[in-house]
Amino acid sequence: MPGTPWSRRMGLSVPIVNAPMGGVAGGRLAAAVSAAGGLGMIGMGSTGSAAALEYELTQLDPAPTVFGIGMVGWVLERDPALLEAALAARPALVSVGFTEEWAWVDRVHAAGAAAVTQVYDADHARRAAAAGVDVLVARGSEGGGHGETRLGTLAVLDAVLDAVTVPVLAAGGIATARGLAAVLAAGAAGAWLGTCLSACPEALTPEPARAALVRARATDTVVTRVFDLGQRLPWPDRYPARVLANETTRHWAEREAALSGDGAARDEVAAAAATGDPRRAPVDAGEGVGALTRSLPASEVIAALCDGADRLLGRWTGGTATTADSGATR
Ligand SMILES: Cc1cc2nc3c(=O)[nH]c(=O)nc-3n(C[C@H](O)[C@H](O)[C@H](O)COP(=O)(O)O)c2cc1C
Repeated sequence: MPGTPWSRRMGLSVPIVNAPMGGVAGGRLAAAVSAAGGLGMIGMGSTGSAAALEYELTQLDPAPTVFGIGMVGWVLERDPALLEAALAARPALVSVGFTEEWAWVDRVHAAGAAAVTQVYDADHARRAAAAGVDVLVARGSEGGGHGETRLGTLAVLDAVLDAVTVPVLAAGGIATARGLAAVLAAGAAGAWLGTCLSACPEALTPEPARAALVRARATDTVVTRVFDLGQRLPWPDRYPARVLANETTRHWAEREAALSGDGAARDEVAAAAATGDPRRAPVDAGEGVGALTRSLPASEVIAALCDGADRLLGRWTGGTATTADSGATR
């Protein structure tokens, strides 16, 4: 795949970045994505810490020349040592999301890394670019895990590409060659992939969750705050999570306000989450989850996406694409 100007500048052979998924994207997944020619990211989520990051850094094997680290803004406010540990590891890319407090950007630049954040509309993109963020992730509501659900992926990508001049990665529901081809054709500098890499053997995903991801259909996800309320995680209301729908999400559907005021019920949800059983516990997943039918190594997932996207884009350039082609390449 020829790549994009941004991916070539970063020294990547494919315009793919794995999303820094807390509890899923550890050092092994990041190393595998980088070895496959993309940019591997280690994710520190809501329970991230400097110690957890230091352990995951030891799992970066083979050691990538280019890798990144992603963190959650409100976690850094609670645990500043996490940003210190991340910068000390000399990543090429540092992502901080779920905050509009921008002091981290200068720190990232001083460490010689590029600053990245996820944005959800054009105004947000302008604010991030004005704060010096080097690369934006236009993240659509189809995406797995936490995020605002304001616009779908192509709509937010369009809006952000119009609003800023910095490179823009696309995220949310990209799990097939068609999705990758669509965002690259639209002008994305690359794709930021979460769900479609979350069932890889290199991911930290526990086995029951991996099996649930492989079983799930595209229509099996739901956007909810139920697990964050239950676990008393201080996620701001504007960032709900897209997860696999299960007994717990169904039980509390449309009743989040009631849950929020009921301490005993919150304890029950926390206990359900602690079981790790996907029938009751959270499994973050975006609408691309229906494309996961097996647990394949990251290199195979990335090769299939990039080879397929290459074929689709090549057909278009050749002027031979017709609607009849649409079933040919996933
Ligand atoms: C299992 C999982 C965990 C995630 N954890 C984080 C995280 O810790 N930090 C973060 O910035 N984004 C996180 N995300 C969101 C991703 O950055 C990204 O927005 C999303 O995965 C893109 O959509 P997709 O899952 O459909 O590919 C997570 C997503 C998933 C699926």
